[in-house]
Amino acid sequence: MKHLLTTEGIDPAQATAILDTAATLKRSLEGREVRKLPTLRGRTVITMFYENSTRTRVSFEIAGKWMSADVVNVSSSGSSVSKGESLRDTALTLAAAGADCVIVRHPASGAAHRLAGWLREAGTSVVNAGDGMHEHPTQALLDAATLRERLGELRDRRIAIVGDVLHSRVARSNVHLLTALGADVTLVAPPTLLPTGVETWRVSVSHELDSILPGQDAVMLLRVQAERMHGGFFPSAREYSIAYGLNENRLRLLPEHAVVLHPGPMLRGMEIASAVADSPRAAITDQVRNGVHVRMAVLYHLLAHEEETA
Ligand code: CP
Repeated sequence: MKHLLTTEGIDPAQATAILDTAATLKRSLEGREVRKLPTLRGRTVITMFYENSTRTRVSFEIAGKWMSADVVNVSSSGSSVSKGESLRDTALTLAAAGADCVIVRHPASGAAHRLAGWLREAGTSVVNAGDGMHEHPTQALLDAATLRERLGELRDRRIAIVGDVLHSRVARSNVHLLTALGADVTLVAPPTLLPTGVETWRVSVSHELDSILPGQDAVMLLRVQAERMHGGFFPSAREYSIAYGLNENRLRLLPEHAVVLHPGPMLRGMEIASAVADSPRAAITDQVRNGVHVRMAVLYHLLAHEEETA
């Protein structure tokens, strides 16, 4: 694997190999006082975040450091991007400085793909850490890792993705990955928060939450992305919370074994009630924890695995 740009068309065997590596890394680090593996010693990983992030940026940095890579963080405000340098010139500069892997978050859909093209000659790997409303593949992988821990294999598991699907790169990457792994995905959203063409996706669609909850093995709530809502007929926070917020009454409609996920950051009281977010049914902190192991596994498959198998 040279890059991780998308989960669209992902080979289920490749996805499973990453998830298995993440599970092995998690087991091997559990209970250790010193969480440090020598695997990526001498490799340089640069994170390049043009949009805010807590979970993704921090967990990539920790993942690289736990594998002994040299990790350098670049953000738009503290770099020459603020002087007008282009994404291409910034990327070529980072590659020339010695980056083996660039992890990029950018507001423009397709930015990671463009970067991979510009860095082909340099041989630098690119990971998409979220590009506009397009994709967030490592989020989908860590969600799948968390679901596998709680539910076992995902074939024929029923997973509802609820909320602002229209603006959600998390939803897109999850639809591609979860369906590739054999899960049965239902999108639940008001019509104005669904993308055009959703009928061509390999999913079911519902505008109503309560009736689908009793049949689900997992519910993944999405953040309502007010910052991407310009015009259009979107529900108010109150309307959204009444129709789609996961409260304690709705939690009782789910089967006992069903898991609640949220990629974060959460809008408590709107997308999810605090009592649900903090309940043992929610796997939200597990998602964050697994994010580190999944991102270690991605770096391993990009930077170490090829060498070992060559
Ligand atoms: N889930 C997610 O991408 O969170 P951050 O924006 O905090 O990275």
